Amino acid sequence: MKVSIIGGGGLVGSCAAFALQTGGIVREISLIDLNTELAAGQALDLLHGGPSVADQVIQSGGYEHIPSSDVICITAGLRRKPDESRLDLINRNVDLFLKILDSVKQAGPKESAIVFVVSNPVDVLTHLAAERLGLPTSQVIGLGTQLDTIRFRSLIAAELGAAPTQVKALILGEHGESMVPIWSSATIAGLPIEKYPGWNANLANQLFKRTKGSGAEVIRGKGGAGFAVGIAIQDVIEAIALDSRRVLPISSVQEGCYGIRNVALSVPTVVGRCGVVDRMEVELWPKEMQGIKSSGNVLRQTIETVKKRIGG
Ligand code: 2OP
Repeated sequence: MKVSIIGGGGLVGSCAAFALQTGGIVREISLIDLNTELAAGQALDLLHGGPSVADQVIQSGGYEHIPSSDVICITAGLRRKPDESRLDLINRNVDLFLKILDSVKQAGPKESAIVFVVSNPVDVLTHLAAERLGLPTSQVIGLGTQLDTIRFRSLIAAELGAAPTQVKALILGEHGESMVPIWSSATIAGLPIEKYPGWNANLANQLFKRTKGSGAEVIRGKGGAGFAVGIAIQDVIEAIALDSRRVLPISSVQEGCYGIRNVALSVPTVVGRCGVVDRMEVELWPKEMQGIKSSGNVLRQTIETVKKRIGG
């Protein structure tokens, strides 16, 4: 399977490429970037590690890679400042993103191509891509709250001294200020989280608060997230490549799950080779359900504002 990463020269795109290389599942990785020299340097650096990792084709280039790509991952865009919300990025990133969408469309993607949006505000940009690319909606997805979910799990594990891979706890809704922690189904090593030694309600609030602020915390520390974003991207692309039908919290334009329509946000989504295979309405507490609906309302207002500004 071939993956092209638009913005592949940047921090997120190159970390995604490295995660895909070490994951060893995809056959071909192409880095596309306005900064062609940077993309070429990233590709060469990755290529050098290949003999010890996997037999892959790793290269950089332009939109000539689009027609042969199975997954087109869009990571390009300006990063927010620590005190900016992802939605604040809208005006700066939407114009750039629309140009990228036009270039992808002109380049002629495969009918079966999956377009995977990472650029922020990811839910809004996923919605725009789904409406403008002319691909089936199920083939246009966004990273959504998969990154928030693995951050959430990592912080819970670190606090309780648990094995991170055995902490199961979802974040759903907006990849942003209105994201929703799903405690109702959270477990550690199969044990309901509230029964795990050391757990308490105050800790729950602290850990979710830190999760929600993790993007800004990393930006303050190192200017922008890269490693965990790359791993989250790899999680999704591996599910596509293997048609694994893993249930992942990723963003797509909703068609009725939890009663939500015509807005892109993250719900438990069955991910396979065709993108969105299905969505699962896992049982939620009333306040969790309300939180996801609130996310939908925030995002619906935003997408309507954006559409007015860009003319529909
Ligand atoms: C983050 O939360 C880049 O939105 C991404 O770090």
